[in-house]
Amino acid sequence: MEVQKTIEGQSKIRAERNRTITISNDERRSLMEQLSVLEKPCNLTGVIDKTFHQDLFSALDFMPTAFADLIVVDPPYNLSKDFAGLKFKATDEDSYMKYVRSWLPAVLRLLKPTGSIYVCCDWNSSNCIYTVLKDLAIIKNRITWQREKGRGAKTNWKNSMEDIWFAVLDEKDYYFDVESVKQKRRVIAPYKIDGKPKDWEETAEGNFRLTYPSNFWDDISIPYWSMPENTDHPTQKPEKLIAKLVLASCPPGGIVFDPFLGSGTTSVVAKKLGRHFCGVEINECYALLAAKRLLMAETNTEIQGYSDGVFWERNTLNLQKKQNTKKTKNQANQSYQQPRLF
Ligand SMILES: C[S@@+](CC[C@H](N)C(=O)[O-])C[C@H]1O[C@@H](n2cnc3c(N)ncnc32)[C@H](O)[C@@H]1O
Repeated sequence: MEVQKTIEGQSKIRAERNRTITISNDERRSLMEQLSVLEKPCNLTGVIDKTFHQDLFSALDFMPTAFADLIVVDPPYNLSKDFAGLKFKATDEDSYMKYVRSWLPAVLRLLKPTGSIYVCCDWNSSNCIYTVLKDLAIIKNRITWQREKGRGAKTNWKNSMEDIWFAVLDEKDYYFDVESVKQKRRVIAPYKIDGKPKDWEETAEGNFRLTYPSNFWDDISIPYWSMPENTDHPTQKPEKLIAKLVLASCPPGGIVFDPFLGSGTTSVVAKKLGRHFCGVEINECYALLAAKRLLMAETNTEIQGYSDGVFWERNTLNLQKKQNTKKTKNQANQSYQQPRLF
């Protein structure tokens, strides 16, 4: 166990294997230099690869119209939550709907006509998000993410799911690359025809099948203390989850915008996957975490759960490592081969 400072400067005892990203006082000053503030209207170069530390409502009007290929929105949900001093209080549906209407139309102005938007929410906020979004864009899907964390409830069923609404502006003309988000799953009942695997692959590590993803996502854990992406942000999204959105809905080299950036997950994933980013975060501690993670992404582009161009099931880290080690050895002798897709 060792005593570390949290991002808000409080002392906290952490286990030695705890990999939570923190910021020292020395780092703070240099990281501040990575943050920007928008004070007047700008063009594309004014927003590209920038982390704005300010209130979204003071930035939106200055941003150029239709600059983003993809917008990922993870707003404060209709829950009582303390974002390092910025307190949100659960409210009635009408008030939350009014809040969503105060930013969603302005955020959509920034989306290219061929772009896509994803809005995250829990069951309590989902109805409001859907009601506002459906009048402004064409809803394509509701993704359900089964997340494994949170306290058990005593008086009702523990909430283990979140919604992510996927919408576009043009019914037909939008980017969607399903090939880039295939899942590698263990085969439970290996079926063979003439002694050969039917649509699956036999490897030393086990039998696997590559499948197309559905709108039910059960392969993603919430970041926890031993993961290298973990921060003290109370509602940090997993890099693996955002990677699916970025790969499927933003072309390589395109621009991803996140109006409620938090600890920077969207920008970090965009950068790791060769896309440009832009994000706004009101809280200094979180904006600094985003800046630090973006610097870390310059030398480490790994995304836990995504390797070899495919998304792996939960709890397969050892298998991924084994396959990667083998690949590194093979690569020394021969050129890289794409995994077989079924
Ligand atoms: C749900 S969290 C986003 C978490 C983020 N997806 C991540 O992975 O860390 C929402 C974030 O919005 C920020 N926020 C709330 N109101 C804001 C505003 N008016 N302008 C900018 N940021 C805001 C909060 O400080 C919080 O960090």
